[in-house]
Amino acid sequence: MNIAVIGGTGLIGSQVVKKLEAAGHEAVPHSLSTGVDVITGQGVAEAVAGAEVVVNLTNSPTFDDASLAFFQTSMDNILAAAREGGVGHVVILSIVGVEHVAQLDYYRAKVLQEDILKAGPIPYSIVRATQFMEFVDAILSWTTEGDTVRLPTTPLQPIAAQDISDIVAEVAAGPPLNGTLNIAGPDVFPLDELGRITLDARPDGRTVVTDDTAGMFAVVEGDVLTAKGDARIAPTRYTDWLS
Ligand SMILES: NC(=O)c1ccc[n+]([C@@H]2O[C@H](COP(=O)([O-])OP(=O)(O)OC[C@H]3O[C@@H](n4cnc5c(N)ncnc54)[C@H](OP(=O)(O)O)[C@@H]3O)[C@@H](O)[C@H]2O)c1
Repeated sequence: MNIAVIGGTGLIGSQVVKKLEAAGHEAVPHSLSTGVDVITGQGVAEAVAGAEVVVNLTNSPTFDDASLAFFQTSMDNILAAAREGGVGHVVILSIVGVEHVAQLDYYRAKVLQEDILKAGPIPYSIVRATQFMEFVDAILSWTTEGDTVRLPTTPLQPIAAQDISDIVAEVAAGPPLNGTLNIAGPDVFPLDELGRITLDARPDGRTVVTDDTAGMFAVVEGDVLTAKGDARIAPTRYTDWLS
């Protein structure tokens, strides 16, 4: 199949391109660095022309309220070009439980992205993943002060980018789900424990202090970001990924 991967130079996008190519598809990466801008619309029509499937793995440069405009404009531009180009399937990557965290601008922006896709004219698939293992270092950095990292006990279920890209590539090459597939890593950790496991494996002088008011995940209520019974569980364990 001919598959346009927009955001195909990113963490997930670059792996999805490789996996689709390895499976015999023609997968073409597009992004700002290849001259395609999903916000101005520059190059989007050309990027999707001739593609049977569009995988949108772009990401907002910020997590603040500007992310709402990013996901709205990018989705509008991609869907308009995809309809014009006769694309038969659009795939996006969202977040497990995202509709339960309306306090976070970025999460509301991802819900908006999903809603635009669902209301649009093209058959679609939404893959919702839990937090990336590759994202844990950034989470720790946001609440580091000196040698202390403050983290709440929010339950998270990290998943490896390689497992996500396997599943996104599989979904892209399959029929549209016209629905959502939830995917998650094999283990749930309170975020403070996840921080301690990370720093035990890669000591850098920092220690974790439990603080249920610290960082963006403090506003998350209960275990809404972890997988429920319908999710597909990916194989890579966090402790193996760390080593
Ligand atoms: N972080 C998590 O835990 C998590 C969990 C679930 C889902 N997700 C979702 O997963 C998706 C992929 O995330 P990621 O971490 O792989 O992203 P990433 O590594 O930050 O890559 C972002 C990609 O978007 C491209 N891009 C940004 N602005 C663009 C624009 N205006 N026009 C065209 N391309 C643009 C970048 O292109 P250049 O390289 O050329 O700049 C890059 O290819 C996101 O939608 C995110 O919401 C994340």
